[in-house]
Formats: sequence, C-alpha cells, structure tokens
Amino acid sequence: MKRLLTGLQPSGELTLGSFIGGIKQSVKFQDEYESFIFVPDLHAITVPQDPLLLKERIKKNVALYLACGIDPNKNIIYLQSENLYHTNLSWILECHTYMGEASRMTQFKDKSKRYDNVSVGLFTYPILMAADILLYDADFVPVGIDQKQHVELARDLAGRFNNKYGTTFKLPEPLIPKIGAKIMDLQNPTKKMSKSSEDIKGLIFLLDNEDVIRKKIMSAVTDSDNKVYFDPENKPGISNLLTIYSALSDLDIKQVEEKFKNYNYGNLKKEVADIVIEKILEIQKKYHEYMDSGLVDEVLNKGLKIVQEIAQNKYNEILKKVGLGRI
Ligand code: TYM
Repeated sequence: MKRLLTGLQPSGELTLGSFIGGIKQSVKFQDEYESFIFVPDLHAITVPQDPLLLKERIKKNVALYLACGIDPNKNIIYLQSENLYHTNLSWILECHTYMGEASRMTQFKDKSKRYDNVSVGLFTYPILMAADILLYDADFVPVGIDQKQHVELARDLAGRFNNKYGTTFKLPEPLIPKIGAKIMDLQNPTKKMSKSSEDIKGLIFLLDNEDVIRKKIMSAVTDSDNKVYFDPENKPGISNLLTIYSALSDLDIKQVEEKFKNYNYGNLKKEVADIVIEKILEIQKKYHEYMDSGLVDEVLNKGLKIVQEIAQNKYNEILKKVGLGRI
C-alpha cells in the first residue's frame, strides 16, 4: 500500500487555507493509502513563539485534524518533537545539502524579510521537512502550492543519497489539490492566506465564530467590474471566493461560475459565507468534543509507538550506509 504523509505547523491558528490545501486531501485519500499526519512543532520554533501558546496550539492542531475528518483508525498521528529520529536524520541530510540549493528556497526568502534576526533553523527548515518525509518512505505528500518546492528538495536529496549510498529512500511526490492549492488572503487576494499574517481581517480561522466569518467574507476585497467569473489574474478577489466555494462544495470551478454568473458580489459573498460557516461549524462541534476528551493524548501515544519503531529501523539502515556508529 502506498504511503501518504503530511503535517501542519502549530505556528499560528489553522485557517481555511490550511484545511483546503493541507488537511482535506489527507481525508480524501485516507481509505486508499497508509496515512501519516503529524504536528511539525519543531518547525514552529524556526520563528519566535510563546511557549504556552505553542503548547496549546499543538493539542489544538491534533483535535482539529480529527474534527476535520482525519480518522484515528486510518491514520498514524504523532508529534515531530517526540520522535528524535527526525532531527537526527535532518543533520545527516544537512550534510548532503548544498548551500546553493538551500538558498534557493523561496519561502525562506519571503519569511526572512519579516524578522530582524533570522534563525539558522529558518534556513535549514526545508531539510528537516525532507527528514520528516524520507524517514517514513512516503510516496505522496499532500500540500498546498507553497510547499511544493520543499517536497522537491526532499526528492532531490533522496535521489542524491540513493546515488551515493545505494537505494535507501523513496522519491516522494507532492500531491497538490486541483482546486484550492493557494487560498488567498481576503483583504489582499494576491497574497496567500497565511496563519502568520499580522492583519487577521483577511484570514478565516477554523475556530472563528459565525459572525466573525460572515463579516470577514462580506468585507473581502473584490473589484469594481461587478461581473462574476473566474479569472485569477484580473479578478483575484472574486476568483478566490469562487475557489473557496468550489473546494467546499462538490462543484468544479466551471459549475460554480455557472451557478453564480448572474449574482451580484453581495449575494455571491453571502453564499460563500453560508458554505464556509456550515463547514466550519461542523468542524468546531467535533473539535470541542475532542478537546474535552482524552482522545488527543490517546492517539498521540499510539502514533508515537508506531513511528518510533519505523523510524529506528530506517535510521539504523541510514547509519550503516553512511558509516556512522557501530552497527
Ligand atoms: P504550513 O503549516 O505552512 O501549512 C500546512 C499545509 O497547509 C497548506 N496551506 C495552504 N494551502 C492552500 N492555501 C493556503 N492559503 C494555505 N496555507 C497553508 C500548506 O501548503 C501545507 O500543505 N513545512 C510545512 C509543514 C511540514 C510538512 C512536513 C508538510 C513540515 N514537515 C512534511 C508535509 C510533509 C508547513 O510549514 O506547512
């Protein structure tokens, strides 16, 4: 059975973008593939974090995974920081990564502009991500478009390692959703909806209440054309709303365009708000149940046992090939 693996950083509250680009595909494929979903908490500290908030968000992430439809009986769910093999492998991979290729990562270029002091961890972050993926021989990595370059780096590193030491790693493939690979900020629709944005008016958080969601969608930035059709380049705001509707309904973009072609922007926004609220309230109901139960710890304990064993075997194989240790 092919393996699928993904994770969402607890660096901020999860958004509608995180759900559509990151979680939804894992839910869709959980019956078809052996599925791993983890919390990359070590990635979160590549930028400054408040320890108490971080701890709380780690638990919230897991409860949200479950509430979004990740079935704990079909997925192995765990925390990155609890399995030390991730960082061990990351070091070995760092020693096989060229400065030039690491310097080409566009997310580092963007994120490093936001901080006065940029950590070395922010620079090496894609290599830790490669370790997360390669440690488990994942075939597919469901991600939004912003993470595609990082999965490609993982693939390059796997290929380089295999060439040097003999076949060791699978070459992972990114699984990018056809619709919703990049949900845009509602206030700035040429920019990704990002959980770490400072202006939260353009973000829908999975834990926002109904009134807040409606208000944010009703005040989404659009254009003055007043015609509803899909054209991301010239009509980014409207196209983003159509994309959100499409991702949350069973309709493709053409069908959504057809449905709304005679709507004015106000009525379109109202229907988009309705479908977003319906989905998010459904998630929130389950989320509260899971937060109040012992289920989060239960699935994490079970997941950790499984991944530690898989990772230890893989890591021993790697040590041997590289000539490290005494095995
Ligand atoms: P992160 O936490 O930034 O985002 C989690 C997932 O959500 C997707 N995503 C979006 N998709 C569409 N539109 C958006 N506005 C949007 N915002 C976020 C992201 O593409 C991602 O799929 N480095 C990763 C976490 C990670 C990881 C891994 C992922 C660490 N190790 C191994 C997969 C495999 C990250 O920061 O994603």
